Amino acid sequence: MSDFKLKIAKLLSGQITCLTQDDIYSMLEVPANTDMGDYAFPCFKLAKELRKAPPMIAKDIVDAIGEVSFLSKVENVNAYINFFVDKTMLVKSVLDNVLTAKENYGLAQAHDKGNVVIDYSSPNIAKPFHVGHLRSTVIGHSLYRIFEALGYNCVGVNHLGDWGTQFGKLIVAYKNYSSKEEVEEKGISELLRIYVLFHDEAEKNPELEQEARDYFTRMEQGDEESLALWSWFKEISLKEFERVYEMLGVTFDSYNGEAFYNDKMAAIIEELEAKGLIEVSEGAKLVRLDEENMAPCLITKKDGSSLYATRDITAAEYRKKTYDFKKCIYVTALQQNLHFAQWFKVIDKMGYDWAKDLVHVPFGMVSMESGSLSTRKGNVLFLEDILKEAVNKTRQVIEEKNPDLPNKEEVAMQVGIGAVIFDDMYNNIIKDIQFSWERVLNFDGETGPYVQYTHARACSVLRKANVAVNHSFSDIDYTVLTDDASVNVIKELADFNSVIEEAANKYEPSYIARYAVDLAQAFNKFYHDNAILVEDEKVKEARLAIVLSVKYVLSNALYLLGIKSPEQM
Ligand code: ARG
Repeated sequence: MSDFKLKIAKLLSGQITCLTQDDIYSMLEVPANTDMGDYAFPCFKLAKELRKAPPMIAKDIVDAIGEVSFLSKVENVNAYINFFVDKTMLVKSVLDNVLTAKENYGLAQAHDKGNVVIDYSSPNIAKPFHVGHLRSTVIGHSLYRIFEALGYNCVGVNHLGDWGTQFGKLIVAYKNYSSKEEVEEKGISELLRIYVLFHDEAEKNPELEQEARDYFTRMEQGDEESLALWSWFKEISLKEFERVYEMLGVTFDSYNGEAFYNDKMAAIIEELEAKGLIEVSEGAKLVRLDEENMAPCLITKKDGSSLYATRDITAAEYRKKTYDFKKCIYVTALQQNLHFAQWFKVIDKMGYDWAKDLVHVPFGMVSMESGSLSTRKGNVLFLEDILKEAVNKTRQVIEEKNPDLPNKEEVAMQVGIGAVIFDDMYNNIIKDIQFSWERVLNFDGETGPYVQYTHARACSVLRKANVAVNHSFSDIDYTVLTDDASVNVIKELADFNSVIEEAANKYEPSYIARYAVDLAQAFNKFYHDNAILVEDEKVKEARLAIVLSVKYVLSNALYLLGIKSPEQM
């Protein structure tokens, strides 16, 4: 459709309205009811300049437009001009586009628009990988694919929380309450057990805290024994995180976490000092942000140790040097808003114009309804349990609905995990989510399984018609596709590219998720209203062309969300 929107904007620009094409483009509306046309242009804003009543303006413009090849009708209704796109031309142009690009429709083939760094997931070693990290993981991964679809080259960074005083605590806890065998056997849950125990014990015995700080200091000074333990704990955590990433199908291009910047921070602190940005207050170094009405950004504590922000500033400079990014995107919970606002400002004060290319993408919280998860208490891999439970529940549904499905286990994985991912991104990401199995796995709701099911339905029609995925249609008769249900599907298909762009502009994978549901609904209405495998070859071919196009686009929309699209379910 956007092709036509552009054509209309071009038509109205210049002599007819004195507005620019861009202005008109953004003023064009899509009427709620197609009786009012495919696009409508409101004339209110022109009234002042032209000193005429808006309905008069609308009428004059319609007269001036006259006959236009791609429009079947142009009319004015009060202050609006309604444009009716020629349906056959619309259908032809959209299906031609989709069926030429095939599986690549909407996805750029070259990634030559520059680099975009995306910092996502970034869990903390030896601490729980919680539901918040799940959101960061799936949102960041989706943004990665969305920007790639637009022709950027993405660099996915897992900025692991692998440095800090918690490692001192863990070392003390390990020495006091655990053993090599136990950690080897139980992995991260043992690390968590002793970490929690440490905190309980430290309340009774504050000396433990000091001991932990001492160990961390030793780590910072390069003490071999404590560093060996640290790296062992890290390895254990990573192994378990990897399992979750594999279930989710998520990958990274870099695992440079906080520790990676240990030897790079001194230079940054020097730079801050040389630029006159550092103020020393009670031994601590900080950058004042009074003018910005923000609390100061702490750079080093009074014992000289660095902070979360120090590492982020250092990492940003490193990434700029290494990747020369067009944008560097950080996906975290909105609780970190202040943190990012502060250090982005510090980069700006350092005189780097690329401060404007740093983007924080905050998301809301996930809460679990009580009893929604049968889980061990204090479970580390809370997340892994959710995913496994989703797969189990999906397996049950498949057993009931389609017990003869050939690759049941694989489909249960794809649908169960897809459902959780989809639910995380269905609403604007800033919104909190109340996790509910009933919603997540509802095959008829606005859910991942619903979209996947619709895709599988399209595949099944194609199978019955012997239409392979890379099928090329010859001579489609577009005139048989001008009924409302078909045209509605076509309009959805046409919007895919602009939806991807909007999703990227707003950092909102939810646009893709909602689009996928809209397209699935339009397709199901089409499927319901029109028999596809009919006698009339012409009609059948034309309708199959729609089915195959929908298959491509649903599958690509799901791909952009990081979700698989099984062909049968
Ligand atoms: N490790 C942090 C946490 O779990 C998230 C890190 C986000 N990325 C960053 N560059 N600060 O809260």
